[in-house]
Parts: sequence; C-alpha cells; structure tokens
Amino acid sequence: MTTAIKLVSIVGARPQFIKIAPLLRSFEHFTRRGGPPIDHIIVHTGQHYDAGMSDVFFDELAIPPATFNLGVGSGSHGSQTDQMLARIEGALLNGRPDIVVTYGDTNSTLAATLSAAKLHIPVAHVEAGLRSFNRRMPEEINRVVADHVSDLLLAPTPTAIANLEKEGLAERAVLTGDIMYDAVLFNRRLAAQRSSILDRLALEPRRYGVVTIHRAENTDDEKRLRKVLSALNEIAATAARLVFPLHPRTAKVLQSRFPAWSPHPRLQLIPPAGYLDTLSLVGHARMLLTDSGGLQKEAFFLGCPCITLREETEWVETLQGGGNILAGIEPEAIRAAVSAWEARAPAGQADFSAAAAAAFGDGHAADRIRDAVLAFIAPRERASHALL
Ligand code: UD1
Repeated sequence: MTTAIKLVSIVGARPQFIKIAPLLRSFEHFTRRGGPPIDHIIVHTGQHYDAGMSDVFFDELAIPPATFNLGVGSGSHGSQTDQMLARIEGALLNGRPDIVVTYGDTNSTLAATLSAAKLHIPVAHVEAGLRSFNRRMPEEINRVVADHVSDLLLAPTPTAIANLEKEGLAERAVLTGDIMYDAVLFNRRLAAQRSSILDRLALEPRRYGVVTIHRAENTDDEKRLRKVLSALNEIAATAARLVFPLHPRTAKVLQSRFPAWSPHPRLQLIPPAGYLDTLSLVGHARMLLTDSGGLQKEAFFLGCPCITLREETEWVETLQGGGNILAGIEPEAIRAAVSAWEARAPAGQADFSAAAAAAFGDGHAADRIRDAVLAFIAPRERASHALL
C-alpha cells in the first residue's frame, strides 16, 4: 500500500490564503489523475482572524478548513512571532510531515520557516527571491530569513531568481511563475459572475479609483500618512471618486491618531473587501493607488493603471511593463502620477497582458510548484523506504 505524502502548508494572512488556493487545486487534480496520495494539512496561524480578513477567502477560494488554527492573533512582531514559533512547533511535532510549504513574507512565513527548520523538516518557500532592498520593512526581513533558511526556493520571476543568485542561493531555486497570476486568471471569471460590489456601491466602470494602504511604513508614520490622506482628498475632489477598503491596521490608526480627519465626500471608506470583490473593483477601476504588493500585480494582470505609494517595489516587472508608477507619498508626486495616467490611459484602461505573461508565467505556476515539491521529496522518500 502506498503511504500518503504528508505536506503541511502554513498560512496566516490574507495574501497567503490567495496563494495556497491554486496549489491545493493542483495537488487535488494530480491525485485524481493517478498521482500519489497527498495528505495536505493546512495550519492557520491566526495572524488574520476575522471574517473579512480570513473566512471570506476560505469560502470564496474553496479552501478546506484549516486542520489546525493556532489562534495567535495580533501583537507586536516579537510576541506574535514568539507565539507562532511555539504553536507551529507543537503542530509539526503532532505528526511529522515530509515537507513544510510557506508562502510570501509575513510573520507567519518567518515563524513557519524557523519552526520547521529547527525540527529538521525540509521547507519550501513559495514566492522566494522577492526583494525591496529596504530592511526597515518587516516583510523584507521575513523574506531574507525565509529564503536563507528554506531548502527549496520557488521563485515567481526571473528577477527573483537573479536576486537569489546574488545571495548565493541559486542551487536551491526553481523558476515557477507567479501563483498569484494563476489565482487571477482562474478567479476573474468567477468575480464577473459573483461579485456585485459595483452595484452595491453604485460605481460606474472606469469612473472611479481604488485605494489601499496598510504597510507599516505608511500607517505607523504620522507624517507620511497625513500626506497620503491629503493627496487622496485632493484626488477625490478633482480627479475621480475613490473607494478605499480599510485594512484593520489602517482603520485603527485613523481612529486613534487622526480622529479629526474627514474624508472628502467622494472618498468612500469601506470595510476590507473579499477576493472576488477586490478583483471586480480593481478590474473596473480607472486607477489603483496602493502600497500593497499583491495589488500592484493584480492591477497589472487586470489592465488597471497603478500608482504605488512607496519609494520602492519588489515587483519591478510592473514598472518595466509600463503598468505601474512609483510615486512615493509626496502629494505633488501622487498628483503628477494621476495626471500621467490620465494622459496615458484616458479611457482608464490599458492592456499589460503581454508584459504580464512575459514576466509572471503562463498561469500554471501552481503545477510547477507542485512538481518541484514532489521532486524534492522523492529521493528522501526512497531513502526512508530503503531503511525499512
Ligand atoms: C500582514 C503582513 C503583510 C501582508 C498583510 C496583508 C507581516 C509583517 N505583514 O500585515 O506582509 O501584506 O498582512 O494584509 O506579517 N487585524 C484585525 N483583523 C484581522 C487581521 C488583522 O483587526 O483579521 C489588525 C490587527 O489587530 C493589527 C493589524 O490589523 O493591529 C495588523 O495586522 P498584522 O497581523 O500585523 O498584519 P498586517 O498589517 O495585515
């Protein structure tokens, strides 16, 4: 009798739920077509915990409930990571897996990598090789540690491969394409069928912009956030109606540090949007203003002009492909970027699909990740059987 390969995926935050879904689907197809049985265990750290930040993604992306929910919740970086380390270790000791798969750059990624590595369990890192070269970003620290400690580095783009090469990690790296591209290609049709957010908010396609802000560098620095908020009010007043789904971190900061700030009537704050609503919102917007990593790419895939409210981006392909303007947070620069897009894409649409496919793959990154993971475990499996 063939014993199932035991694989543990560790997730905890919104972008990780999006990344795990195509991989789960790929493993299921593979087993259904006669591949080896896989026992795919999902560990949810609980970093994101409420309905709008977690449950909605499991529902919409048909992710089975997590086998373990570690319930870690919010906290400082130290205490959050500390609790995750201990609880992930407990979950892994419960039934030693053949491999642990981690995703992206969150504190959950960092804790998962360290816990597994210390137990001598091999670790595969999905979305390896991303660099902003800004070590003040918590995500950059998480990525660098995850890549140096992991055994298998699953890189989404040639740029990511080049970054890994420069750090001496080429031997462990495999170019897979971007799993978030798979997710957009698969889900945009579902979004068209199922999302009613445009009707609910009375939005006309290409007549509004979308805003998201949640990076610590923007939310935790009052001066920076003040500048962004004033630029947004001005854009709402002069250029386009704006819809701003608020990340809980941003909502808290606005409440505690900007109680007197009032958004312009054409700047509409809404609760965090689900994945299908987000695809629909961005897919029909005339522009996106964001500090999110994932959304820069999603805008690129969906043909929505993007303005990034940061000084650097990991996703340089979106700049090179002409889909993204790196504006920073100075109101003048943001205004200039809005004008540039109004001139470049007056209809509020653009087609970056050729550049997207050239940089991010063919929409089958999940299959390549699956194959790389299985190829990585195969010799170990053979060795352990030889010992029996
Ligand atoms: C994390 C990731 C970031 C990722 C982002 C996506 C790190 C260091 N950062 O940042 O890479 O792009 O997720 O959203 O891991 N909160 C809630 N409800 C929730 C989740 C969070 O209220 O469901 C609140 C928390 O109380 C906290 C704040 O949001 O104050 C920030 O949460 P945190 O867990 O630090 O992660 P993110 O900022 O979301």
